[in-house]
Amino acid sequence: MALQFASAVKRIPVYPAGSGYAQTGPLVLLESNESPYPPLPEVVAAASAAAAGANRYPDPNSVALRAALSARYSVPADQITVGNGSCDVLLAAGLALLEPGTELVYAWPSFSVYPQLEAISGATAVTVPLDADERHDLDALAAAVTAKTRLLIICNPNNPTSTAVRFDALAAFVDALPERVCVMIDEAYCEFNSLDTPDATLALLRRHPQLVLLRTFSKVYGLCGLRVGFALCGSPELPQALKLIRQPFFANAAAQAAAVEALRHPEEVARRVEAAHAARAELKASLLDLGLRTAASETNFVWFDLGRDDLEVVAGLAERRVMVRAGSALGRPGALRVSCGTPRENARFLAALTELIQ
Ligand SMILES: Cc1ncc(COP(=O)(O)O)c(C=O)c1O
Repeated sequence: MALQFASAVKRIPVYPAGSGYAQTGPLVLLESNESPYPPLPEVVAAASAAAAGANRYPDPNSVALRAALSARYSVPADQITVGNGSCDVLLAAGLALLEPGTELVYAWPSFSVYPQLEAISGATAVTVPLDADERHDLDALAAAVTAKTRLLIICNPNNPTSTAVRFDALAAFVDALPERVCVMIDEAYCEFNSLDTPDATLALLRRHPQLVLLRTFSKVYGLCGLRVGFALCGSPELPQALKLIRQPFFANAAAQAAAVEALRHPEEVARRVEAAHAARAELKASLLDLGLRTAASETNFVWFDLGRDDLEVVAGLAERRVMVRAGSALGRPGALRVSCGTPRENARFLAALTELIQ
């Protein structure tokens, strides 16, 4: 007899994951906004040491990691929650806050996991188009808030369009929202944002108990393979609710240890940001030479309109062993999202693209 699944299963959209994982041989992987640089040897050593004790469960309260994050960001430890990647925190927040009859607001195109929140919870998603410059339209987002809104997400800088809104505008926006609405700013790429200092939003936490800053070790720290992310919250309310709604052990020991060690190397973060900025500038200039104008990127990737079928170009690049992401999979047919790689990887991508479109 066929299994009877919950109706949520039928609603959940398939996450458009990259396609390079199962392939063997050398590939230029520019499809998932990863760091092209491996973790520092000290970070790998910390993860290995933790793996040697894997016969024990990890600390379910992530005490050492939350203490390190508390010291780094001057946010009390009880206002910090960690997860199996920031997606884990995001999905758990959706389960904790949303239910049928409530609403969730976010811009579109934005991060592909947000539509899952609607599907798993039965809440209604209200999506707001980006403005003409591919940025969040804060006025339209504010206008979309109703008495039913429980969660509003702003991805800043935004994936997949790479753009960011300035801190001043964001602060005025958050200040004007009702306190009963949980406002989540997904800052997965904040370290790469050159419009404002990446930690500008921390000031908002002190005056907004309903604010959540979602962050990750997956991008600038290069730890996406270990899965560890965190949220800095304006009050202990959300961390407490997430503790109830998740399984007891949601952050593995190797990931926790690696993250603690990674926080000890801010100079490495600065180096990686500098490398990403250089790669971004190079990609932008070379694409412009090909007649392709990129959106104003504040991330470790670029986003641009191809003016032709993106799926064909992505397939052509894949034949040349260069993996990038089609806009069609991300809500904008005709566009391409390309992560900043090493200088060699970027050159391989540009050569392959030139061959295909000229
Ligand atoms: C905007 C955004 N938020 C969150 C994440 C998820 O990161 P994590 O690996 O921490 O789950 C990503 C990953 O691509 C992202 O682009």
